[in-house]
Amino acid sequence: MKLVDFGSLNIDHVYSLGHLVRKGETAAAAAYQRNEGGKGFNQAAALAKAGQKVYFAGAVGTDGLFLKENLEKYGVNTEYLEVLDTPTGHAVIQVDDDGNNSIILYGGANRRITKEMIERTLSRFNPGDVLLMQNEVSCGDIILQEAASRGLRVVLNPSPMTPEIMGWPLEQVEWFLVNEVEAEDMTGETEPDRMLDVLRKKYPKSRFVLTLGEKGAVCAFNDRRIYQPAFKTQTVDSTAAGDTFTGYFLYAVLNGTAIDEALCLAARAAAITVSRPGAAVSIPEMEEVLAAGI
Ligand code: RIB
Repeated sequence: MKLVDFGSLNIDHVYSLGHLVRKGETAAAAAYQRNEGGKGFNQAAALAKAGQKVYFAGAVGTDGLFLKENLEKYGVNTEYLEVLDTPTGHAVIQVDDDGNNSIILYGGANRRITKEMIERTLSRFNPGDVLLMQNEVSCGDIILQEAASRGLRVVLNPSPMTPEIMGWPLEQVEWFLVNEVEAEDMTGETEPDRMLDVLRKKYPKSRFVLTLGEKGAVCAFNDRRIYQPAFKTQTVDSTAAGDTFTGYFLYAVLNGTAIDEALCLAARAAAITVSRPGAAVSIPEMEEVLAAGI
């Protein structure tokens, strides 16, 4: 079984401020950092740090070649990552004193994914292999359809949520990993169990993990619900917490771990990520997660 993460790479420009900038306000940042990021990148890093062999597919500009090199340092295979003559995607991230963030995305090379690139890449994978995807690259619907028609198992983190996603062939998704905001957009419901009821009805063959920030996570599959509380930690920066959860959870289920243990492992890893600054750099290695006294 091979796993390919078809997703985004971003240069994250991170500004630390007392509070997130309000409408019409100009505010001085207390600190600035340029980090590696992008939901695709972060999730590949989380998988690799957990111990999973992972292929990365996507696109980057020459200004983002350090992202390719960093993925390789984490042990991610980048043979399906294309270097294009266009700027790399980037994110402008504000982080406030409580560790909350707000993010502006510029797609750049992430939005230059084409049907040809998708076919070229996915033709190298076989039925039973796994595709992990998010919603930061162009042609997401085609990636999903192409993977499913080739017999790949599809794992979708529909982040950031956009109305177009509801037109994708979502019935082909084996695992959805969604947060509360995404689930509310997908269902119109505001209460977690109701969200899962609606999602299960719409996509009866799929399995779901709903992450609830400080309230933990819930997994719904085969008429079962498993609730996982969040581990308490000092929040420094919540960026990439969801990506960490996704990578660790997927690693665990693909390697035969029971769902309750997979949820617990993912929650532990995400708690470590929020306790320090940055996106992929803040994601712990498996050794640290297992040793953590949280
Ligand atoms: O999930 C966090 C990521 O979202 C950041 O690294 C940023 O690049 C945006 O894609």
